Amino acid sequence: AEVHYHNFVIQSTPVKRLCRTKNIITVNGQFPGPTIEARNGDTLVIKAVNQAQYPITLHWHGIHQRRTAWADGPDHITQCPIQPGGSYTYRFTIIDQEGTLWWHAHASWLRATVYGALIIYPRQGSSYPFTKPHREIPILLGEWWYANPVDILNNALMAGAAPNVSDAYTINGQPGDLYNCSSQDTVIVPVKQGETNLIRLVGSTMNQELFFGIAKHKLTVVAIDSSYTKPYTTDVVVVTPGQTLDLLVTADQAPSRYYIAARAYASAPSSVPFDNTTTTAVLEYQSPNLPCRAASKDCSGGGAASPKPQLPSLPAYSDTSAVTRFTSGLRSPQKLNPITVPKSVDHNLFFTVGLGLRPCQRGRRCGGPNGQNFTASMNNVSFVLPTNYSILQANYQNINGVFSSNFPPNPPLKFDYTGKVPRKYWTPKRGTEALRLKFGSRVQLVLQDTSIFAAENHPIHLHGHNFFVVAEGFGNFNARKDSRKFNLVDPPQRNTVGVPVGGWAVIRFTADNPGVWLMHCHFDNHLFWGLAMVFVTDNGVGELETIEPPPNDLPRCS
Ligand code: C2O
Repeated sequence: AEVHYHNFVIQSTPVKRLCRTKNIITVNGQFPGPTIEARNGDTLVIKAVNQAQYPITLHWHGIHQRRTAWADGPDHITQCPIQPGGSYTYRFTIIDQEGTLWWHAHASWLRATVYGALIIYPRQGSSYPFTKPHREIPILLGEWWYANPVDILNNALMAGAAPNVSDAYTINGQPGDLYNCSSQDTVIVPVKQGETNLIRLVGSTMNQELFFGIAKHKLTVVAIDSSYTKPYTTDVVVVTPGQTLDLLVTADQAPSRYYIAARAYASAPSSVPFDNTTTTAVLEYQSPNLPCRAASKDCSGGGAASPKPQLPSLPAYSDTSAVTRFTSGLRSPQKLNPITVPKSVDHNLFFTVGLGLRPCQRGRRCGGPNGQNFTASMNNVSFVLPTNYSILQANYQNINGVFSSNFPPNPPLKFDYTGKVPRKYWTPKRGTEALRLKFGSRVQLVLQDTSIFAAENHPIHLHGHNFFVVAEGFGNFNARKDSRKFNLVDPPQRNTVGVPVGGWAVIRFTADNPGVWLMHCHFDNHLFWGLAMVFVTDNGVGELETIEPPPNDLPRCS
């Protein structure tokens, strides 16, 4: 196994999109940020140097961080932020994970521009469980705002209102042909006829799920969230913030240009505003006979410009059944992934996920419904980040008063989650509450959407683990009836599950990773409204079941 060293300088960089230049926070001046490549079993050592004006942390989304929870990165959960002028070195080993993951900032809304791909190749001496692709193409789906994302978050929190809808969706940082002033910079993906390519697709949007497809081309899913799947061929995939998909695409069409495209899946009612534009890149067959591309400089010589490429037909924005069709086809190959699904469980948990309201403070402008502030909760607790210590440090050093271990294992209020939810259930309490798990315990967790205000699809991400998605459905979860549908044979493994709109998902995992693990909605406005909680997993008895001591340069809160 190898050790890879990286220097990540976090800095302010001028970037032009949608006709305007603004300064954004980047790593090493790159947007999207640098791609990290390693093999299963390798170690990564990434020194983050903060030359920007904001406190920041970096998170290696989907990496399990076995014994190295100090390197996980969520702000005030496993570390205090790196202050401007400070630095911190993230050091961790990749254990039994292969495929595509990504990294992103995990403080304020900085991940809007601070993110990149993290690619894990098979272990030294082994190879892909599918035909070796001719080339590999990382595609990161993102969102762009004219305004500064940190200001958007702060304004939204101040006003208690939903944040502004983004001004564009992006592919590798570029909006593409269908947005103003963007054609010149549309991402071109060159392919050769007959060759098979591996697209490493990353859901790095902030607040939006997307449908993704390529005109005339089939996509074969071979991995999700760094675990292999049974090959599964489809025209369209769904990607929520936090999810990754490895897709084989064979260039088997007539040499031409085809749009690679993504556009919104908006599970909330159409009254919720969103951007209905399609972000595009171009799959371009390398052929001497292709006319020049209309928007490109090489067409300035007056050659015959080619017509606009064909768009894939993506489902309508509210097509929930297209989402169900896609996710229900995902399966684990029983032999390939090292972890097996727990057949029985020690903890039977049930968490509600949904929005809520918080009373308006006197003298404040409150932009949410009923003149109040938006909030969000799990099991009626709206999560509040601690201020003086990270939860991991408080737990490691037994510092009292930073968090409680009282997170309820079941909803304190039971109601019809899909019906008209009574007003008295709209206002969650606020708290920094954790749920303790004994090392090695097997957990089943039902995630149930509440329809307070609106039923919504929430992409729920668990740090430090991949879990099995054993069932999903609509309406209220019914233990007796729905447990018959559990797939305990070949359920897909993920780190982020899109809990169906007005429905539920059941996940299972083994708590065999000591540390403090944030679980949250990967819509960043929901995270900051409190749709989060933490699991605290104790040490086991073995040497390899114990968390390492904190690194010397771990940032402390001032
Ligand atoms: Cu992608 Cu808590 O993170």
